[in-house]
Amino acid sequence: MKRIFSGIQPTGSVTLGNYIGAMKQFIDLQHEYDCFFCIVDQHAITVPQDRLELRKNIRSLAALYLAIGIDPEKATIFIQSEVPAHAQAGWIMQCNSYIGELERMTQFKDKSAGKDGVSSGLLTYPPLMAADILLYQTDLVPVGEDQKQHLELTRDLAERFNKKYNDIFKIPDIRLPKYGARVMSLQEPAKKMSKSDPNLKSFITLLDDPKQIEKKIKSAVTDSEGIVKYDKDQKPGVSNLLSIFSIFSGKSIEELESKYEGKGYGDFKADLAQVVLEEITPIQERYYSILESSELDEILDRGAERANIEANKMVRKMMNAVGLGRKR
Ligand code: AQP
Repeated sequence: MKRIFSGIQPTGSVTLGNYIGAMKQFIDLQHEYDCFFCIVDQHAITVPQDRLELRKNIRSLAALYLAIGIDPEKATIFIQSEVPAHAQAGWIMQCNSYIGELERMTQFKDKSAGKDGVSSGLLTYPPLMAADILLYQTDLVPVGEDQKQHLELTRDLAERFNKKYNDIFKIPDIRLPKYGARVMSLQEPAKKMSKSDPNLKSFITLLDDPKQIEKKIKSAVTDSEGIVKYDKDQKPGVSNLLSIFSIFSGKSIEELESKYEGKGYGDFKADLAQVVLEEITPIQERYYSILESSELDEILDRGAERANIEANKMVRKMMNAVGLGRKR
């Protein structure tokens, strides 16, 4: 069976961007692939985190994986820091990557711009991400578009390693969703929606309450034309809302454009809030009951056990290829 690996950072509540770009893909893929879905907490600490918030977010993300419909009997759900081979393999991949190529990563440039005290982990996060993926002999990585550059680097690093040492890594392919690979901020539609955006009105999370969701959609930036029409360049705000609407309702953009012809943005936004809520409300109900149950820890224990077995096999191969430790 072919393998899938993907991870989400526990850096805040999961946004509609994370859900549409990555998590929604996971639900279908779990039936066709051997899936490893990770809570990448080591990536989260590349920027400052509050210790207690981080712990809360890790558990919350685990519960959300289950609440959206990931079946722990089918997929392996685990926490990155509970599988030490990730840090070991990450170090080897770091030593196999060049500072220049890491400095060219747009996410590093965006997150470090104008900041003092940028951690070196923020620069070396992509080789750790490469290790995460390569440890599982991954065939396919379902992610949003913002991760495309990191995925290309992963492929380069794997090919470089295979050539330099031993041909041990499978070269993974990226899988972007057909629609919604880049969900934009509700307040600055030229920017992607991000869970760590300081402007809380710019994103909707899967755990926002209904009133908040209605308010955030109502205050989403559009334009003064009052025409519901998809035009990414001239009408980025409306186009973003149309994409979200289309994904949640299953209706095409054209259908939605004609439904709201001559109606302005009021009805359109109110109906969008309703379709989002229809999908999110049952997820929230499941989420709160899972969070209370002891089942969550059992699932994460089982996930860590399976991930450790797989990752340890691969890190051992990497160590042998490089010449680290004693031959085993
Ligand atoms: N706006 C987005 N549209 C579509 N997909 C998105 N993803 C993130 N934002 C969007 C996808 O979600 C998955 C998990 O992302 P992550 O948590 O590993 O980190 P990220 O890409 O940096 O996401 P955020 O929300 O912007 O987190 P912060 O604010 O902490 O940096 C990935 O598959 C990503 O492509």
